[in-house]
Amino acid sequence: MKIGVLTGGGDCPGLNAVIRAVVRKSLSLGHECIGIKEGWKGILENNYTPLNMESVSGILHRGGTILGTSRTNVYKVENGEATLKENMEKNGIDCIVAIGGEDTLGVASKLAASGVKVVGVPKTIDNDLNATDYTFGFDTAVNIATEAIDRLHTTAESHNRVIVVEVMGRHAGWIAVHSGIAGGADIILIPEKPFNFDEVVDVLKQRHARGKSFSIVVVSEGAKLQTEEESDKDGSFVLTSMKKDSFGHVRLGGIGNILAEEIEKRTGFETRATILGHIQRGGSPTAYDRVLATRFGVFAVELLVEEKYGYMAALQGSEIVAASLAEAVGKLKTVDLKLFDVASTFFG
Ligand code: F6P
Repeated sequence: MKIGVLTGGGDCPGLNAVIRAVVRKSLSLGHECIGIKEGWKGILENNYTPLNMESVSGILHRGGTILGTSRTNVYKVENGEATLKENMEKNGIDCIVAIGGEDTLGVASKLAASGVKVVGVPKTIDNDLNATDYTFGFDTAVNIATEAIDRLHTTAESHNRVIVVEVMGRHAGWIAVHSGIAGGADIILIPEKPFNFDEVVDVLKQRHARGKSFSIVVVSEGAKLQTEEESDKDGSFVLTSMKKDSFGHVRLGGIGNILAEEIEKRTGFETRATILGHIQRGGSPTAYDRVLATRFGVFAVELLVEEKYGYMAALQGSEIVAASLAEAVGKLKTVDLKLFDVASTFFG
C-alpha cells in the first residue's frame, strides 16, 4: 500500500522521529510512503515529497518537521473533503498517517467517518489531547521550561525581583504545572483555575513577609483572569492580539507582561516578565520524546495494516494502544487537580 504521511498544526519536538518510524516500519513490511507537505494543505494542493530510507536518515534527533506544517482546516476550504479524496485517488495514496493535535486529528476523525483510510499520531507540547496519557513533545517543552525557571531563579534572587515566566498551554496548564513543580515555582496560574490579581498579590506578599526577597510566578499563556465585577464567571483569556487561525483559535501570548505590571503596581516589588514562547517548541527532542514518538510511529503503521482506520496510537500506562480519534478529540485532557494540589503545597 502507498501511505501518505503529514504533520499538521504547531510543530513539536519529535515529529521527525515519528516520520522516520512510520517510513522505516512501512518499508520493512514492503509498503511505500509519500510525504504530504505542510499538513492538510499539501494534499489539497498536491504538494508531495518522496519519503524513503535516504530522506529519513539523520532526522531522529532533529526538531521541527521535514514535511513542514500548517493549520489548514479541510472543512473550511470549499469542497475540501471531495478534493482531498480526488487527490488521494489520482496519486494512488491508499491511506494517511496524520500526525497532529486536536485540530489536525479533528479533521482526521471527520475524514475517517466519511470513509477515508486514516490513522493518527497524537502530537502537542500542551499535552491536552484526550485518550493518551502523554503526547510526544511535552517532555521536551517541560525540560526547556524547567531549565529556564532554574536560570531565572538565580537572577531573581540576585536582584530581589519577582519574575513572571509565561509558558505555553492554551487550554490546559500541563507545562506550567510540571515545570512549576520541577522548578520550584512560588505560584502557578493555569487555565483550569481562573485567577484574580488580589490572590496572586496576597501569596507574594505573604512570601516576602516571611523574609523572602524574590519570587517566581509561572503562568500558562491561556490562564483566565476573573475580574472583580465578574468574580462568579469562569474568567477570560488575557489577549494582546485579536488574530485567529483557521480553526478559530485566538493568538495567545502576553499575559506575562500584564501580570508583571500588575504585580509591581500592587506590591511595589520590582517585577520582570519572560515569555518563553516558541523556544518551547524548537530544537532537539528529549530521549523520552524520541522513544515515545518512535513507538507511536511504528504503532500507526500497525493500525493501518490491521485496517483500524479512525484510530490513533495512544500511551495508556506503559502500553501503546489504539484509541478512537473521535474519543481523542471529543474533549480536552485538562490538568489533574490532584496534581495541582501537590504544586500548590509550595505556593507562597
Ligand atoms: O498548540 C500548541 C501551541 O504551542 C499552543 O500552546 C499555542 O497557543 C499555540 O501552539 C501557538 O501556535 P502558533 O503561534 O504557532 O500559531
